[in-house]
Amino acid sequence: MAEYVLTATKNHARAGSFYDRIEGLYDLTFKVNGYGRSLDQYFEAHPLPVFPGCSVLETGCGTGTLTLALLRTLKVPVKLTALDLSASSMATAKKYVEKNNPSGQPVRFAQGNALALPFADESFDLVATSGVLEYLPLDEGFSELARVIAPGGYLLHLPMRPTPVAAFLEMLFRLKVHPPHLVSETTDKYFQVVSHYRFPKFQPISWSKSAVLAQKV
Ligand SMILES: C[S@@+](CC[C@H](N)C(=O)[O-])C[C@H]1O[C@@H](n2cnc3c(N)ncnc32)[C@H](O)[C@@H]1O
Repeated sequence: MAEYVLTATKNHARAGSFYDRIEGLYDLTFKVNGYGRSLDQYFEAHPLPVFPGCSVLETGCGTGTLTLALLRTLKVPVKLTALDLSASSMATAKKYVEKNNPSGQPVRFAQGNALALPFADESFDLVATSGVLEYLPLDEGFSELARVIAPGGYLLHLPMRPTPVAAFLEMLFRLKVHPPHLVSETTDKYFQVVSHYRFPKFQPISWSKSAVLAQKV
């Protein structure tokens, strides 16, 4: 079994991220798996709690699947920042955003470590994250996300679930699916869950992920 990659600690992020090497494979997988459409349907049924001018951060934007879905769903002007450790993944995300940004929302890209976010405490109204906490110690990851969210602000987290497809993705992308009870307990430590969404069974995203919206109280 491929070794799990811990991408960072609070004080040290790996030079030349793992994703700088596998970004092409990752991008190809995400072009064909229909996640974008599933996210669109989810956001249509569950509009994000945003307001004009609010600050939104996507932590671990990768090649931009969730970033593009955010841009498609956000109907009010917001301040959107997309962060990732991998410079080459972000370059791909940037390229896609330049071509597919229906409302012309400005997106600020920042290279950084999700365990040591280069932002002040309580500086975002919404943080979205997908597929990143699986590379990190769970409590440290949640604690850092909670730090940058304003009181009353929200976290949108798409945790991976232990399924056969997730086990395959664990090997392919060298990540670690955290036990669901630990994800729930850690979410509850920092947030109050507003909704937990299960994607329809026929959508590939449902074979490894769900979506949790939680509020920092
Ligand atoms: C599985 S991909 C998910 C990408 C994107 N969120 C999506 O849903 O398609 C994981 C991403 O997390 C990024 N990542 C991993 N560890 C990170 C860290 N410590 N800080 C910031 N980004 C990190 C990787 O570079 C990669 O782009």
